[in-house]
Amino acid sequence: MSVIYRPALARDLEFADSLVVSSINNLTERHGFGPMAARSPTLFQQFSLKDDADGLWVAEEDERILGFAWSWVCDDMWFLAQLFVSPDHQGRGIGNELIARTLDHAEKSGASNRVLITFSFNTVSQGLYIRQGMFPRFPIYSVSASREQLTGSWNGSRYDVTPLEEDAGTLRRLAEADRRVLGVSREKHHRYLINNGGVRGFNLYDGNDWAGYAYIDAGGHVGPLAVIEPHAAAAALTTALHLAAESGASRISAFLPGAGEAALKTAMKHGMRIKFPMLLMSSREFGNWAQYLPRNPGFM
Ligand SMILES: CC(C)(COP(=O)(O)OP(=O)(O)OC[C@H]1O[C@@H](n2cnc3c(N)ncnc32)[C@H](O)[C@@H]1OP(=O)(O)O)[C@@H](O)C(=O)NCCC(=O)NCCS
Repeated sequence: MSVIYRPALARDLEFADSLVVSSINNLTERHGFGPMAARSPTLFQQFSLKDDADGLWVAEEDERILGFAWSWVCDDMWFLAQLFVSPDHQGRGIGNELIARTLDHAEKSGASNRVLITFSFNTVSQGLYIRQGMFPRFPIYSVSASREQLTGSWNGSRYDVTPLEEDAGTLRRLAEADRRVLGVSREKHHRYLINNGGVRGFNLYDGNDWAGYAYIDAGGHVGPLAVIEPHAAAAALTTALHLAAESGASRISAFLPGAGEAALKTAMKHGMRIKFPMLLMSSREFGNWAQYLPRNPGFM
């Protein structure tokens, strides 16, 4: 049987997620990092599928899904959230075919920048992306610490916080902050996060001044986080780590761009450890990465 490539359907998403988890863990275990991924509800995939179905593709043979690709677009930025092939079918050209379909999505959307986050130890994915015109820009570290480790070292200034609400004024402010920091509005993604029960969003205030925003999830993970001035990064991350620790989660984690010195210093000062080195690749330079912490490799 030959492999067919077709648009993903809602009923494919659960299976695609288990394929992605097994492909990630196969890769991280082969490289000595141990397992990285676990199954989770496919809420963001479902959101993306409803929002813009052109970005989600499956590779199928004998009615078995062997590969999954998923991209989303905000303004002129196309982002490859996932590209995964079942470990026993890698090296057959499936990744190449899937990425060609998702790049058609970028073309159709008129996106001038193409972006993704991959594993810095995966030579195959990086080779594939470089050939498609996306180049390595900087590392991103997935870091974590136990709550006890973190709370043993509290110091540094913090900001006041209020919960993010889905009102027009807040959404406008969030969109403006993202335009300033990332160059694109992510208003639809803020709506998604604010309405996602497992995540809490906060306005960050430096006195009376709005400094940025931070999201914390039920598992103690921080991000996305953005600040409108570079000097605010350390206090914003300290504030977010406090909020995550107060939530009672046993581990606290974040995703820190190597280009953000203040956030990296803050995390190390609090005893956080690097778990996985990742890499941002893009077709051109963009963003103020000392002012933004991505949520994860799929959300950015
Ligand atoms: C990365 C991945 C999606 C690629 O899919 P695949 O079906 O195995 O890849 P393909 O067979 O289509 O192509 C791989 C290409 O990489 C090239 N490649 C392999 N090793 C390479 C290296 N060390 N340097 C440069 N290129 C390399 C191959 O030559 C091939 O290109 P070609 O067909 O033009 O010669 C798949 O291997 C995978 O799921 N890996 C684990 C998870 C992962 O890292 N996903 C990416 C997350 S962003």
